[in-house]
Amino acid sequence: MAIRVDILTLFPEMFDIFNQSIIGKAKEKEIVSINTWNIRDYTKDKHRKVDDYPYGGGAGMVMAAQPVVDCIRKVKDQNRGKIIFLGPRGKTFNQELAKELSTEEELVFLCGHYEGIDERIYKHIDMEVSLGDFVLTGGEMACIPVVDSILRLVPGVLASSESFTEESFYSGALEYPHYTRPAVFEGDAVPEVLMSGHHENVRKWRRAQSLNITRERRPDLFEKLELSDEDKKILNKFI
Ligand SMILES: C[S@@+](CC[C@H](N)C(=O)[O-])C[C@H]1O[C@@H](n2cnc3c(N)ncnc32)[C@H](O)[C@@H]1O
Repeated sequence: MAIRVDILTLFPEMFDIFNQSIIGKAKEKEIVSINTWNIRDYTKDKHRKVDDYPYGGGAGMVMAAQPVVDCIRKVKDQNRGKIIFLGPRGKTFNQELAKELSTEEELVFLCGHYEGIDERIYKHIDMEVSLGDFVLTGGEMACIPVVDSILRLVPGVLASSESFTEESFYSGALEYPHYTRPAVFEGDAVPEVLMSGHHENVRKWRRAQSLNITRERRPDLFEKLELSDEDKKILNKFI
């Protein structure tokens, strides 16, 4: 097994999505394993409650420490990986972090709900990761794209590692444009270089497009790129 992921959630059924498509196939091939844990199964409350009113008042409910911490302890018997909480106060997730986490053998994700989790749960968390500067209804909504982007980088999940090494963000730039048949669609022709069969020119054209798109759409990323002499030359030649 290349990587084991355990997800602690109040809504395990939301992760059925991982039975589909590329991740579903990777599970079948036993390259990845994804296990969900229902936090509610760990509550000691006789009504199976997992949340309570916030001390100090205010809107909403707070996920109580007891069921979450007991669930974390149980998972730790089987998975020694980092405990990652999906929450808006965390480090913003990006491809670099996806790459870093894809090299781990085991990872644990904790999904919050309601107004959030009791602050004392943080003692048991190694890292908080946010999907961006907006508020979601639950950590599950963030956990799905985060886990998906990590797992597709695990060797064997995609057919070829080229599928992701040339993609947006992997090398710090956005991806070049793609075309498929027909060669002309509603009067719009595919760039000639792509049909020339000249692999070196195709490579250079794609690199130039990738750099130019990044410069136009994400100047913040472009500024961080270290352009080689060839990059500077092809930018002038193709753009
Ligand atoms: C309604 S939100 C709670 C928001 C919280 N009251 C706040 O203002 O920061 C419920 C849960 O969704 C998850 N969540 C919300 N926004 C998120 C984001 N941007 N990234 C990751 N998880 C998020 C967290 O697990 C959070 O505990």
